[in-house]
Amino acid sequence: MMMWHNKFVVVGVTGGIAAYKAAELVSVLTREGAEVQVIMTASAQQFITPLTLQTLSKNPVIVDMFAEPKAWEVQHVALADKADLFLVVPATANLIGKVANGIADDMLTTTIMATRAPVVFAPAMNVHMYANPIVQMNIHKLRGFYHFVEPGSGRLACGYEGKGRLAELSEILETAGRVLNSGTSAQQTPGEYSNRVVTNINDQLEAQQCGVADYSGLTVLVTAGATREAIDPIRFITNRSTGKMGFAIAEAAARRGARVILVAGPTNLPAPPGVELVAIESARDMYAAVTEHYPGVDVVIKSAAVADYRPKQRAGQKIKKGEGDLILELERNPDILAQLGKTKQRQVLVGFAAETNDLIRHASDKVRRKNLDFIVANDVTQAGAGFGTDTNMVKFIFPTGEIHELPMMPKSEVAGAILDQVLVILRQRDKE
Ligand SMILES: Cc1cc2nc3c(=O)[nH]c(=O)nc-3n(C[C@H](O)[C@H](O)[C@H](O)COP(=O)(O)O)c2cc1C
Repeated sequence: MMMWHNKFVVVGVTGGIAAYKAAELVSVLTREGAEVQVIMTASAQQFITPLTLQTLSKNPVIVDMFAEPKAWEVQHVALADKADLFLVVPATANLIGKVANGIADDMLTTTIMATRAPVVFAPAMNVHMYANPIVQMNIHKLRGFYHFVEPGSGRLACGYEGKGRLAELSEILETAGRVLNSGTSAQQTPGEYSNRVVTNINDQLEAQQCGVADYSGLTVLVTAGATREAIDPIRFITNRSTGKMGFAIAEAAARRGARVILVAGPTNLPAPPGVELVAIESARDMYAAVTEHYPGVDVVIKSAAVADYRPKQRAGQKIKKGEGDLILELERNPDILAQLGKTKQRQVLVGFAAETNDLIRHASDKVRRKNLDFIVANDVTQAGAGFGTDTNMVKFIFPTGEIHELPMMPKSEVAGAILDQVLVILRQRDKE
């Protein structure tokens, strides 16, 4: 595991019964050549002594934000800057709740808030604590920014059977290694941020506890960005879509274990780790790529802004400036979504509707006409919603007329909400 050599890893240890397992983690990391700095919460010291972790990490353990000998160095900032990776093992319900709510009242939470390094949480707690909707909402909220190693199922120290046991160390190390290699940092999304309203928390919880919350075994096709419709070799018609929403969905689905095929128009965004990128240019290219992959996928999320029309004639040479006006005649592009709706088998089909007026009427009409499972509708005239922004404000509209309204939130979190909703639909299908 050469990857750990000379890496600066901050290990946060919190007050759970599994705190003793942090000792082995620290020991492995140190042996592999990482420089390890341990931060313990006050409660963690009830479970394991700083001396043990100090001996294993070969570094003094930080336990008190205000009692450090080198306070003038502003330790929490120094550590936050220096870290290549943060691992919180085990992560208590309390710690997760504090981070999810922006609380920084000790060295660990303050340093997590100050860092740009990726953070991996390995939760461990009583099965009922883990199943508590508030804990699940906090985890769900943090997933948009940080990484999680799901707890395992089994017999817990409290005597209950179920999910909540700290994941195996090998799994924690594997996730940590993957995160370190992919270089994904904590995403600190600027702009207004509001708590997510989880409308269907019980369905989502059930989905998560039955093990389908991770997308392993599922193939998700995502489309993103704008298409370009050529007028001549150097000019084209396009739109304002940047691809951010679709790339966020693709990234989130891959992180949750799906095989992800991302069919995207030209964009400046890098392909998310682990995603198969199919780069296309025109609506017809997108049509060909999507219909080719469609039969083999479980879920299609069509967030691309596909041009409805293309120039009827594409000039072979650059069109020269003339004296008078130039009239471009446009013809219809194929309607990809309608085609997918018509030929739908078992796939869950999700569309997007970006509208400037009569949002609900247009989107409700589209969800039924195109045989979608639901549509993600947003009014692109609103601040913080739509093209080029890091946030979005959307509604999920269903063929039944039901509407779930989500507050303004980072696109990464909208992506998570869409994927959760898809899981609810897949689970309902399994039951039928
Ligand atoms: C014996 C014992 C075991 C505990 N185990 C856990 C645990 O596994 N997970 C958890 O979230 N909280 C557990 N708690 C509760 C936490 O210690 C408590 O919420 C504490 O405030 C956490 O503080 P921290 O997050 O700052 O470390 C346990 C408490 C006791 C007394």
